[in-house]
Amino acid sequence: MLTHTEEENRKRIIVALDFATEKEVLRLLDQLDPDNCRVKIGKELFTSCGPALVKKVGKRGFDIFLDLKFHDIPNTVAGAVRAAALELGVWMVNVHASGGRAMLKAAAGALSGIDSRQPHIIGVTVLTSLNDRDLSELGVQDTSREQVVRLARLCRDANLGGVVCSAGEVATLRKEMPGEFLLVTPGIRRPGDARGDQKRVMGPAEAIAAGADYLVVGRPITRAEDPQASLAEFLSAISGNPPNPY
Ligand code: C5P
Repeated sequence: MLTHTEEENRKRIIVALDFATEKEVLRLLDQLDPDNCRVKIGKELFTSCGPALVKKVGKRGFDIFLDLKFHDIPNTVAGAVRAAALELGVWMVNVHASGGRAMLKAAAGALSGIDSRQPHIIGVTVLTSLNDRDLSELGVQDTSREQVVRLARLCRDANLGGVVCSAGEVATLRKEMPGEFLLVTPGIRRPGDARGDQKRVMGPAEAIAAGADYLVVGRPITRAEDPQASLAEFLSAISGNPPNPY
């Protein structure tokens, strides 16, 4: 069970390692302290550099969110979650909620009875790249917001640890799911930051105040002239906000 210790409080920023090469990753990690942040490895980096780099990043002391969004039959997803935990030792891993209840339960139970550090297993609800018209084309007649809440409930019922959600969804989901259900939120920007391709953004303090547990921040830190100073600014912005007490 996650308790928000002082350490948790210092490590609520997850830096997105959206790079294609090991060299760029290691150059950035040289400037970051694993006591002050966690990191996210997604599909681009994993596909380019593979499990070896995940292990290398872990050896440097960083907690890793492996953002591979598993979506397959239950047995295959359970195996992938086990491999992420046992072979790679990751701190967090995610699966697509739309894989359905059996798949989510298989993911949540993948490590039961196995004596190992349990990663947080969280769900992806509706990709923020999809609008209501896209959903309708996929046969979903509800709005994306309704679908997000439905899939988040399904994740909770299947015993997942939380969901990834956009800043615009945090407050609604926190109201729906009080307590220990983790909300992990990208699309975070300080007032002066370039938005890049993020359409709706929120400031770090506001996102935490709305109920986010972890903030995923990429370019404002990874492309900063001084990534360490940028991370320090994000940490200082959220330091006044007490973490979710659960
Ligand atoms: O650079 P930036 O801060 O926009 O990076 C945000 C990170 O969060 C990227 O790795 C992106 O893929 C991820 N993400 C997102 N929006 C979502 C889900 C994930 O921006 N809805």
